Amino acid sequence: MTTIRPRRLRRTAAMRELMSETHVRVDDLIAPLFVREGIDQPVPIDSLPGVVQHTRESLRAEVSGLAQLGVKSVILFGVPSEKDAVGSGASDPNGIVQLALGDLRAEVGDDVVVMTDLCVDEYTDHGHCGIVDEHGSVDNDATLDLYVQAALAQARAGSQVVAPSGMMDGQVAAIRSALDAEQFSEVAILAYAAKYASGLYGPFRDAVDVEIADGGDRRGYQQDYRNVREAQREIDLDIAEGADMVMVKPALAYLDVISEAAARVDLPVAAYHVSGEYAMIHAAAQNGWIDGDAVALEHLTAIKRAGANIILTYFTRWFAEQHQ
Ligand code: PBG
Repeated sequence: MTTIRPRRLRRTAAMRELMSETHVRVDDLIAPLFVREGIDQPVPIDSLPGVVQHTRESLRAEVSGLAQLGVKSVILFGVPSEKDAVGSGASDPNGIVQLALGDLRAEVGDDVVVMTDLCVDEYTDHGHCGIVDEHGSVDNDATLDLYVQAALAQARAGSQVVAPSGMMDGQVAAIRSALDAEQFSEVAILAYAAKYASGLYGPFRDAVDVEIADGGDRRGYQQDYRNVREAQREIDLDIAEGADMVMVKPALAYLDVISEAAARVDLPVAAYHVSGEYAMIHAAAQNGWIDGDAVALEHLTAIKRAGANIILTYFTRWFAEQHQ
C-alpha cells in the first residue's frame, strides 16, 4: 500500500505558486472614498484607521495617487453639511458628490472608472435610505423618484457607474429608464442587489455621519441574514431590471451568497468588503492578536475564490502599494 501524498504539491514556494488557483489583482479592486462638504483639512475616521473624510482637493490628490498605483476604480460617498427630510443634497448639482465628480473627471479622465453610491441616507436628517411615511416606514415608490433625481445629477456631473444601494423595489428599472430617457445610456448600473441588514456597517456610519433616528434600523428594506434564496431572487430581479453588474454585501460572512450568485449569473459579480470587516482586522492587529496584512490578503483572496470578480475594499490602496 502506498500513501497518497497531496503534500508533494506543497513542498516548495515555487510549487505552491504553480498550484495556486486564485489571485487577487489590483485591477479587481474598487476604493470606496468619502468626500465631505465644508472642511479644509481631511478628517480621519477613528473606526476606520487609514481612511479619511476628504476635502475636494485631498480627494483629487488621492484619486490621482491611486491611478498612479494602477487602481482602476473608485466609488464616491458624500458627506453634506446640511441634511433634510428628503436628502436634497443627493441631487443638487452643487451637492458635494456632484462637485467632486467634476474635479475627478477633469483630473483622471477615463483612466479611472469613477462610480457613485446612489442613496440618500447620507443626506437625510433621519438617516433612512428614503422618504419616511407617517407610520415611520420608508415609502418605496416615493423614494424611487429621489433616486432617479440623484442618478441624473450624478450622470450629468460625470459618473460612469451609478450604484443604487437603498434596496427599494424597482430602483434599478426606474434609474435605467430615467438615464436612457436623458441620453445617459452609456452610464452603467452596479446594483447592490443582495444587501443584508448587517451589524458590520457601524464604522461606515461614522464615516458619513449617519445616525438612524429613534434607534431605528434598516431591516424593513435590507435583507435578513438568515436567507439565501431571497438573495438570488433580488439578484434576478435586478438583472431583469437592467443591472450591468450585481453586488453582494457584506462579503466575508456571505461567501455562500457570492458563490451561488457567481454560479448562476453571467454578469460580473461584485462583493463589498465593508467597513466593519476592515475595522475588525485593524483592531485585532493593533492588539497584536493577528497579523493584519496576512489576514487582509487571506480575506480578499477568499472573496475572490468564492466567485467575486470585483471587490470594493478599504484595503485597495494598501494592496496596490504591496503589488508595485
Ligand atoms: C447606504 C450604504 C451603506 C454602506 C454602503 N452604502 C450603509 C448602510 O446601508 O447602512 C455601508 C458600507 C460599509 O459599511 O463599508 N448608502
